[in-house]
Amino acid sequence: MKSSHLLPFLSTTTIALQLLDLGTLKWTLSSPTYTNITVPASVPGQVHLDLYREGVIPDPYFGLGDFELRWVGYGNWTYETGLEGLETSTGLSTWLLFNGLDTFTSIELCDQHVASTNNQFRQYYFDVSSILASCSGTPKLSINFGSAVNITADIANEPGQETWPLDVEGHFEFANRQFMRKEQSDFGWDWGPAFSPAGIWQPAYVVQLPSSGIYIRNTLLDIYRQGQLNNLPPDQSAPWVVNASLDLLGTVPSTAEMKVEILDLSNATVTSGTLQNVSASESTISGSIVVDGALCQLWWPSGLGAQNLYNFKISVVDGNTTLATATKRSGFRTIVLNMTPISEEQLAQGIAPGNNWHFEINGQEFYAKGSNFIPPDAFWPRVTETKIKQLFQSVVDGNQNMLRVWASGAYSPDFIYDIADEMGILLWSEFEFGDALYPVNSEFLDNVREEANYNVRRVNHHPSLALWAGGNELENLELLVAEDEDPGNPKWRNEYEQLFLDVLLPAVYGNTKSISYIPSSTTNGYLELNFSLPIPMVQRYDNKTAGSIYGDTDHYDYDSSVAFNLSSYPVGRFANEFGYHSMPSLQTWQQAVSPEDLHFNSSTIVLRNHHYPAGGTNTSNFRNASLGMGEMTTAAETYYPTPHHANSVANFSAWCHTTQIFQADFYRSQITYYRRGSGFPERQLGSLYWQLEDIWQAPTWAGIEYDGRWKVLHYVAKDIYQPVIIASYWNYTSGDLTAYVTSDLWTPTSGTATLAWYAYNGTLLAPAETVPFVVGALNTTKVFQGNTNSLAYDLKDALLKMNITATGTLPNTKEPKVFTHEYYFHTLSLRNANLQDPGLVLDYDEQTGNFTVEATKGVAAWVWLDLPAGTLGNFNENAFWLLPGDGKREVGVTVKDDGGSGEWVKGVTVGSLWDNTLG
Ligand SMILES: *[C@@H]1O[C@H](CO)[C@@H](O)[C@H](O)[C@H]1NC(C)=O
Ligand SMILES: *[C@@H]1O[C@H](CO)[C@@H](O)[C@H](O)[C@H]1NC(C)=O
Ligand SMILES: *[C@@H]1O[C@H](CO)[C@@H](O)[C@H](O)[C@H]1NC(C)=O
Ligand SMILES: *[C@@H]1O[C@H](CO)[C@@H](O)[C@H](O)[C@H]1NC(C)=O
Ligand SMILES: *[C@@H]1O[C@H](CO)[C@@H](O)[C@H](O)[C@H]1NC(C)=O
Ligand SMILES: *[C@@H]1O[C@H](CO)[C@@H](O)[C@H](O)[C@H]1NC(C)=O
Ligand SMILES: *[C@@H]1O[C@H](CO)[C@@H](O)[C@H](O)[C@H]1NC(C)=O
Repeated sequence: MKSSHLLPFLSTTTIALQLLDLGTLKWTLSSPTYTNITVPASVPGQVHLDLYREGVIPDPYFGLGDFELRWVGYGNWTYETGLEGLETSTGLSTWLLFNGLDTFTSIELCDQHVASTNNQFRQYYFDVSSILASCSGTPKLSINFGSAVNITADIANEPGQETWPLDVEGHFEFANRQFMRKEQSDFGWDWGPAFSPAGIWQPAYVVQLPSSGIYIRNTLLDIYRQGQLNNLPPDQSAPWVVNASLDLLGTVPSTAEMKVEILDLSNATVTSGTLQNVSASESTISGSIVVDGALCQLWWPSGLGAQNLYNFKISVVDGNTTLATATKRSGFRTIVLNMTPISEEQLAQGIAPGNNWHFEINGQEFYAKGSNFIPPDAFWPRVTETKIKQLFQSVVDGNQNMLRVWASGAYSPDFIYDIADEMGILLWSEFEFGDALYPVNSEFLDNVREEANYNVRRVNHHPSLALWAGGNELENLELLVAEDEDPGNPKWRNEYEQLFLDVLLPAVYGNTKSISYIPSSTTNGYLELNFSLPIPMVQRYDNKTAGSIYGDTDHYDYDSSVAFNLSSYPVGRFANEFGYHSMPSLQTWQQAVSPEDLHFNSSTIVLRNHHYPAGGTNTSNFRNASLGMGEMTTAAETYYPTPHHANSVANFSAWCHTTQIFQADFYRSQITYYRRGSGFPERQLGSLYWQLEDIWQAPTWAGIEYDGRWKVLHYVAKDIYQPVIIASYWNYTSGDLTAYVTSDLWTPTSGTATLAWYAYNGTLLAPAETVPFVVGALNTTKVFQGNTNSLAYDLKDALLKMNITATGTLPNTKEPKVFTHEYYFHTLSLRNANLQDPGLVLDYDEQTGNFTVEATKGVAAWVWLDLPAGTLGNFNENAFWLLPGDGKREVGVTVKDDGGSGEWVKGVTVGSLWDNTLG
């Protein structure tokens, strides 16, 4: 409807704008390839989901569906509907508007060709007025989706098509993904299946406009400090600039003006005004206004302050008529990735020369704690708000403030950013390119430019948006592979720059001043940032000075024998990826495989491990799924007693769990090392581990399983991402052992550390040592130094318990808060430790709703409380150690879904690493 909120006396003059949601119509899905299949279809939706719902195919996630359903991806599929009730003779102009088509389509209306599309990530809109005018009867809309697998193969085989050195394309199940603008992991990834889905995956509409009508199809809102430039810290005392730019269907009159009203969340007006510098092209209108900073409260990430949000009502007004209004919820904050050279002042503080590489929120350095977010499902249309809310609640509960939204999935829908805005989760966002180099012909680059502009504009208003990165593992991986295999050829770097600097950087800088850009997730940063250059960023690449530190790090080492060797970890300013895979729990496996497949090396389970995919055609002969299984087994055998239960399902479950303990232990070792770096010359200010969650049930790097169940990793990350922690650092070659307290609070924090050696039967070996400490803001301090070669006791029967109590204040709060943390140091392999029966006792207190756990006989390592299958929830802590003298540990539990039985309490079990030694 044309609205006239600002001038209600004109409301009688409104003309109808018709909006038909195509999701409300009856659709059918059929296939020119498989002519025996015709089923009702959903919009938004995807072919596999329709076929599954209608019983044509089994659950694609079950067993080897990933392989057995390949035929769906090899087919063409047609969605068809009749546009019932559509007025065709009103003099209105009619548009088809698609917010997402996945991917290669041919669109027909009334048997006439409307258009072909080839980009999953673009919004498409077509004026179909003349087709409709000549249509008789109910207009028939038909959208044919071509097989992305076949079409990309055809493109790759075109004469003169570009090729790359072998191994530049990270090849998983289907090849040639670099030729499509479609979710790259739809062709498989090392953590996910290859279904190559197709369908109308986002909402679609018919929009009908009167001659003077306009419809807002996309809204850019950019809020920044006056004078701010991308990638540079702005003046925090400058007023805000609110820049709005609307993309329209219809034609905007040259006399149009723009107005904005800023409302708080109770819709009380904070300020309002007319935008200045309005410029209008045929399909876009833009303007800006300056807002006094004193009027608005800042938005902060979780743990660093409140998530203040406002509604922005932006109207296009012509004379007394409001032509269109868009309302966007946003917030006031600056977020900058600071990559400026290390200053003299920083050098004087002991920071190593080179460049910064850290985030600043509202002018404040902070420690970014988090993980990498992959597509939460292989089929986006079934990702619900409930699922994302539960997942993001686990992020916040896990003391994380940032997720890197991995490139090569899909640009996140707005509802995901909305939830992140509310919960205070910063989303480092990326363009969908990864682990490959891409074509640079003009058709491809034009297509990418459209995709990038649309998505940058669509999501820019979300205060959770933290960064745009060009793609995943490009500069420091695929580009190096190409240059290594084809030395001296400048082509690879030139082509990389054509896409990631000449096309994508302007898509960011041209639309927003509030967001920083980097061309690749891992990068040595820029040599020069000069806004008088056409492309302001000049890359450093390997032009480094010895002794200087630049950029962020990405670290994987599947040789588990060095997992706890601190010298094997990279020294950088920020860790954006690191990890190791583990098995999901028995409860999760039971959702996806038959009971007879529940053993470690069953072919179904091995084939669901895509780390070194068996299906890949890459010539490297190391590609072998069982290698990935072997890495987990070797790590478990190296560091822990391994299970040998007579009951094969119990044995399988214990093995799965042991691989999770290794994974968590390894990540903890790296996270403590990176966090301690905040007080070392590298001034390390972030760690985002790989990966937050699972796309399906499989051995992967995830900390949260497909249905939301926490692995050992998510509990351990929650523990080690607390603001003030103690941890030990052991050089097992030299025997040097130190302990540091590390804090990411913004003010100094003081307290005491207690260190005490125990034997595994729980006896204290020597009087505890108490050390007072003060740890600076975002800093670390040493509280213990020793050497294990000069210990009076055998490490096999000695365990160092460290714990702290400290008083400090959380950022943007005044009330002092008490922080506690504990940490255990032990011999490298617990297989060699003198573990004994801890005599664990579990109780449930109906009054408090909490469980209690007590070690009555000996030290309990990696105590694990487990929820039964079908119960979604988490304990407030888990995977901890208990000493016999500790008394009862009270453990809270949050149940998000008990499956309706209410019987879950009886199904809760407790165990520890000792159980692995039992027959
Ligand atoms: C359709 O035909 C294909 C190929 O002949 C066959 O594999 C499939 O089972 C059939 N599906 C149905 C629903 O009839
Ligand atoms: C795609 O290729 C497969 C295998 O080559 C073939 O069986 C299938 O019919 C092709 N699909 C289409 C739509 O041509
Ligand atoms: C499959 O779809 C593609 C893309 O629209 C088209 O080029 C091709 O002819 C179609 N093949 C069949 C068998 O329908
Ligand atoms: C404020 O206005 C928005 C947009 O019109 C609406 O969605 C929201 O429910 C309103 N909030 C309150 C508290 O009335
Ligand atoms: C707007 O409304 C006012 C009050 O009714 C009227 O005086 C004025 O002429 C109108 N302006 C336009 C451009 O229609
Ligand atoms: C390397 O960096 C220095 C500045 O640190 C610059 O002067 C020089 O031109 C760069 N070399 C190349 C090959 O870009
Ligand atoms: C550990 O000790 C060895 C032997 O003294 C030494 O070479 C190595 O640099 C040390 N590692 C670290 C991280 O200090």
